Amino acid sequence: GAPQTRTPTGAATGAPSTANGQQGEFLTTSQGARLRDTDHSLKAGPRGPILLQDHHFREKITHFDHERIPERVVHARGTGAHGVFTGYGAEEITRAGFLRKGKETPVFVRFSTVLGSRGSADTVRDTRGFATKFYTDEGTFDLVGNNMPVFFIQDAIKFPDIIHAAKPHPDREIPQAQSAHDTFWDFVSLHTEAQHHTMWNMSDRGVPRSFRMMEGFGVHTFRLVNAAGETVLAKFHWKPKLGVHSLVWEEAQLIGGIDPDFHRRDLYDAIEAGAYPEWELGLQVFPDTPEETFAGIDLLDPTKIVPEELAPVQPVGRLVLNRTPTNFFAETEQVAFHLGHLVPGIDVTNDPLLQGRLFSYVDTQLTRLGGPNFSQIPVNRPHAPVNDMLRDGFHQDAVHAGVAPYRPNSLDGGNPFTAGDAEHAFLDVPVTVTEAPKIRANPVSFDDHFSQARLFWLSMSPTEREHIIRAYTFELGKCYHQAIKERQLRCLATIDPVLCARVATGLGLPAPEPTEPPADVRPSPALSQVGREWPTD
Ligand code: HEM
Repeated sequence: GAPQTRTPTGAATGAPSTANGQQGEFLTTSQGARLRDTDHSLKAGPRGPILLQDHHFREKITHFDHERIPERVVHARGTGAHGVFTGYGAEEITRAGFLRKGKETPVFVRFSTVLGSRGSADTVRDTRGFATKFYTDEGTFDLVGNNMPVFFIQDAIKFPDIIHAAKPHPDREIPQAQSAHDTFWDFVSLHTEAQHHTMWNMSDRGVPRSFRMMEGFGVHTFRLVNAAGETVLAKFHWKPKLGVHSLVWEEAQLIGGIDPDFHRRDLYDAIEAGAYPEWELGLQVFPDTPEETFAGIDLLDPTKIVPEELAPVQPVGRLVLNRTPTNFFAETEQVAFHLGHLVPGIDVTNDPLLQGRLFSYVDTQLTRLGGPNFSQIPVNRPHAPVNDMLRDGFHQDAVHAGVAPYRPNSLDGGNPFTAGDAEHAFLDVPVTVTEAPKIRANPVSFDDHFSQARLFWLSMSPTEREHIIRAYTFELGKCYHQAIKERQLRCLATIDPVLCARVATGLGLPAPEPTEPPADVRPSPALSQVGREWPTD
């Protein structure tokens, strides 16, 4: 039988393909018949109604009527660029080929805000997405991160809840971002695991100066495996060559009005001027112990960082963005990232946020991109040969030959082989799954919600603290419900009394006493059992 391989081609390999775009010099119908006139519909006389038989009119209008696809349910507002990643060598910790010294891999990066719609302003206070697609020889690897190292929630089952709380009100459809929002502050003051991420949002990190001046974080801990089968736990970091810079709030507001496209314009202008944005990819590496902790910090808790003083970031490669997309819709809008796009040498952990994300991305893309074949869209096509036994479905672009794809298969020698060797195949690391009962609960270590928010606050300079105080005051000042402001002030009291007092003064409210154990007596999960015995009033 004939081989059933689908040859990877398309825009992502280099200069964008316009093969299916415009060909020839004459205007035609979608079927290639030359057109004489596209400016007048076919009518029953110059003053008559349009005739149903006007197939050109109907084709043109029908296609236009269906030009829009749903925007992303989150991260709808974004902009992207192509580039190249060069590895520095990391064979000791992972066998991932794209990290080998000198190895060059094409990439596509999409930066985004989280909460605004497609047409919202760039400079709002929000988390920024930093998603990278590495088109490696061993399959596509997606690093779907943010510009902040922690997340609002610990378990993916809470994701619809936090997003519902932060998106515009159901009745008024305001606001665009998480600012000025009773439901947002209601959520984060009731779900205190969100306090650490919220502190990052209220800091200058929430208003980046430029995508070129943002850090990126994989957030979760991943499991890396080398050629000898040895594993480590690791966190991914992007460090911008230009350093980390932010707008001040007044600048962000002015720019939001004057140039809502400020960040995407900045990215395109820089690349087109030859000032290519650059980042180094780095890894924080931890021993793969059964406890999955480091320095008392639970590595499966996505609301926690590991301070770089304790685990320095080791550079493993360099990213340069050097080409803007030819077509925003084809590339930036249709790109589909997924945490399950892993390559040999990189595996997942049991972080309950990561585990849920492994389900969510493909599921949402099935709707957003209209069926199961979106990996055939040029920007999503792997650069490694694909031979996947997946067949048919909406928007199938491949013409597969041979008999039915299944294995083993005695009728068709063209059916694909599995890589029997450990050298070339993706291997799931055979970690032991503990013999614990099924349970809807978090580890006790996840109960520490405040110590790292406090760590962050204490690490800020006086100017940065002033900005944080003003951000909390401004945003909470927009809440209509006093009880929500008071509850959030109690959270701030637990983080730091000075922060709380200053924000309370700004809001014209009394500063409350902390209601949780002081953060500094609960610095690590090891102490969280002790923390549980503290009085809660
Ligand atoms: C989209 C990051 C948590 C569901 C995105 C994007 C980024 C991102 C960067 C934009 C991708 C793009 O540019 O196309 C993160 C990070 C998370 C997180 C860093 C936590 C550490 C979650 C969770 C869920 C989720 C817990 C659901 C359980 C989605 C969905 C999209 C999305 C549905 C839209 C994808 C699409 O339409 O293509 N996320 N996310 N995310 N995220 Fe997450």
